[in-house]
Amino acid sequence: MSAFIGIDLGTTFSSVATIDETGRPQIIPNDKGENLTPSCVVEEKGDKGTMRIGEFARRQWCNAPETAAARFKRDMGTSKKHTINGKEYTPTQLSAFVLKKLVQDAEKELGSIGEAVVTVPANFANEAREATMAAAKEAGLNVSYIINEPTAAALYYAFKSGEELGGVYAVYDLGGGTFDVSIIEINGHDVDVLASQGVVKLGGLDFDEIVHKLVREKYKDQTGNELEKGDFTLNDAEEEKRHLSEQKKVSVECAREIVDIKRAEFEEAISSLVTQTKMACEGAVKEAGIDFSDIKGVFLAGGSTRIPLVTETVKNVFKQEPIKTVNVDEVVSLGAVIYAAYKGDRTKLSPVQKQAIDKIEVTEQTSMYYGTIALGEDLERSKMKEMNSIIIQKGEKIPCSKTEPYYTVGDGQEGVHCRVTEARGAETDVRFAKIIWEGELKLPPDRPAGQEIKITFGFDVNQMMHCSFVDVATKRKTDIDISMTSSKDHADKIDPFLVE
Ligand SMILES: Nc1ncnc2c1ncn2[C@@H]1O[C@H](COP(=O)(O)OP(=O)(O)OP(=O)(O)O)[C@@H](O)[C@H]1O
Ligand SMILES: [Mg+2]
Repeated sequence: MSAFIGIDLGTTFSSVATIDETGRPQIIPNDKGENLTPSCVVEEKGDKGTMRIGEFARRQWCNAPETAAARFKRDMGTSKKHTINGKEYTPTQLSAFVLKKLVQDAEKELGSIGEAVVTVPANFANEAREATMAAAKEAGLNVSYIINEPTAAALYYAFKSGEELGGVYAVYDLGGGTFDVSIIEINGHDVDVLASQGVVKLGGLDFDEIVHKLVREKYKDQTGNELEKGDFTLNDAEEEKRHLSEQKKVSVECAREIVDIKRAEFEEAISSLVTQTKMACEGAVKEAGIDFSDIKGVFLAGGSTRIPLVTETVKNVFKQEPIKTVNVDEVVSLGAVIYAAYKGDRTKLSPVQKQAIDKIEVTEQTSMYYGTIALGEDLERSKMKEMNSIIIQKGEKIPCSKTEPYYTVGDGQEGVHCRVTEARGAETDVRFAKIIWEGELKLPPDRPAGQEIKITFGFDVNQMMHCSFVDVATKRKTDIDISMTSSKDHADKIDPFLVE
């Protein structure tokens, strides 16, 4: 029987989980017996092209960064490269190395792997999701789905809770690299995501740098000298940061000098970053159309929620004590494997596993309005003007697909200016709609106005958006997988189309 696995591909640490015979999700430790594997890659000595992943690579990255790669999740879906011993690697390739390592560890424990689910931050753009799927493929994984990290975390908490949960909950996920907050409706084992917000680059790594800076500054104040690089590394800073979650003060020994850092100083230094998470929580609650008082519980995920100021902030924002477990940095992969079993072939489950999984239901919905720009009647001035015409409503259940007809405006029109817009509200005013893609659909000459252009927008199960603009008469079309950073390289000369 091939097993299901769930993988949390983290910025700093990754983990893999499976479902045991009793139907419970369990972390599979790596070959060092650790539940978490650092997402760091180094080339094996003397063996060019063979990669070593984990704690050794993490240390190597700190001591000789040119020989190792880390933090590449932050660059997923971009063209940024990382170099190891002078050779360039894409973030996708590096992620594939990490995934491969996790799969090897899982295979040792489970034998053959069946379906796998990999998690991504809720605010990952399309191209970062695509890059994650590509990495999984490169690692030889049969990844059927990617799922948002906070959804996975909520799924785990809902599953773990002995009692049936019911109502609106929040998931506050602050890990090593990213921050996400999601507002989720849970009924028993049904998990329905109402809204998600986040900050793509905010997490433990930033806090490490802050500790590092505090130590360097104090060292200079005390000695008048700059601290040498090797005397206090970012990994050392990370360790001290962890201690500061337990202790009110740490005494750091560096270059024969003792530097004291108080928790209060650290918290003061990170307060503006923590405030950003608070604002995202307020935004998510507003977006979900609820009040803070409607939230029945707040689940914590991510290692950085162990920082007392963070827990305190969550408590103040939501006006309640958050719900946590000791393994806050494992809840994402534990939830991911529950999702893998839920989505996968359930005949592979034992009767007990099946019984547990059968109760689950997960739905995600769109968090924005998506549309196009078309000519419509300005009722006030009774003339035509460009308007944002919405095709996919906010709150539409994912997966979804919508098709709408539009018409050319001019006789002999040789092209249409295709645009995809995104808006927070149901805006017809183009000024409030952000254009996330634009391009041209070329049309044959000599046709009268009123030719139908069919526009289809959709989101697939992995929350990737696909759009197409089709000239109905000739079936010519532009197909696009929307990427949030795609360039707006098309001219404005082409005529728009008409809203029905
Ligand atoms: N006791 C602690 N106090 C403070 N920070 C901690 C503690 N334990 C872990 N962390 C931090 O949590 C982070 C790792 O958390 P986690 O594994 O959830 O993140 P990740 O999955 O790597 O990142 P992301 O989810 O953002 O991609 C690291 O920055 C680590 O230093
Ligand atoms: Mg994480």
